[in-house]
Amino acid sequence: MRPMRVAQRPGQWVMRTMRRRWGLLAALALALAGPATARGTESLDSMAERTRACTACHGEQGRAGPDGYYPRIAGKPAGYLHNQLRNFAAGQRHYEPMARLLATMDDTYMRQIAEHFASQHPPFAPPVPARLPAERRARGEALARRGDPSLGIPACADCHGERLTGVEPHVPGLLGLPLDYLNAQLGAWLNAQRRARPPDCMAEVVRRLPHPDLVAVTGWLASQPVPADARPAPRPGRPPSDPAWHCGSAPELSRADRTQP
Ligand code: HEC
Ligand code: HEC
Repeated sequence: MRPMRVAQRPGQWVMRTMRRRWGLLAALALALAGPATARGTESLDSMAERTRACTACHGEQGRAGPDGYYPRIAGKPAGYLHNQLRNFAAGQRHYEPMARLLATMDDTYMRQIAEHFASQHPPFAPPVPARLPAERRARGEALARRGDPSLGIPACADCHGERLTGVEPHVPGLLGLPLDYLNAQLGAWLNAQRRARPPDCMAEVVRRLPHPDLVAVTGWLASQPVPADARPAPRPGRPPSDPAWHCGSAPELSRADRTQP
């Protein structure tokens, strides 16, 4: 085949890059849509091949795109990732290119993809120093670790794990995420652009969180180093005992509560 001629004028690089990316996506969408186990057993290597459309945006092994826009998906709990794929497919979260890819997949295949990325542990990018005054950073840390009883807000760590690295199988970690991504997600909950299975405890967290506190906690979180062992905790720690904090997408949090004194 004759190599395609590409335009050389500088103004056209954006279009070229986009065309290349969309061509790649279209080709890979077909690969992704194929039966999950064409040759009987599915090796991780072939999953890496088959999820090329995902890693084109989410970075090698799902480590995150270079500019903070495409979030890391590697190493997040499998149940959480699976829930998100369902959410994008069902319009509980909105990102059109992903929704199109996912529309071609059945639930079992989404589960396999979620498990594949959950098992990847590429290195994290270093955190970016917080552009917040010390007092605001301290406020952010206090909310993350201890919550604020006067606002009726539990600590983020109560649900997201003492080390804030998430909890198996449904709660994501809060470290190693770019500031813009954290703010966008909390903002999306506030505007009902992102929803989790009801009762949607995160929607309630952001409803109670005054804006300056939201900025303080995301600023602090984004500036924290990720611990050497960034894996999600195997079991919930101290989830809030008030039934008002039941999370539909992470039922294990309230089950853990019932079994604890
Ligand atoms: C065209 C780029 C693009 C492609 C292709 C893509 N994603 Fe995404 N993905 C995004 C963006 C952008 C977001 C963040 C959207 C938002 O919430 O605003 C996202 C979010 C996600 C999330 C949620 C992350 C979290 O922490 O909640 C998961 C999981 C995910 N993608 C998995 C996948 C998988 C699996 C594939 C392949 C089947 C895929 N993505 C393909 C761009 C892409
Ligand atoms: C009562 C339990 C609970 C508390 C308290 C809580 N969260 Fe969450 N959070 C969850 C659950 C469950 C999810 C997963 C939701 C889903 O399935 O979409 C989540 C998801 C998130 C996400 C999305 C992460 C991603 O990768 O897209 C962010 C950001 C977040 N929480 C921030 C916070 C912050 C900041 C606090 C503290 C101010 C907090 N959460 C307190 C339960 C909680």
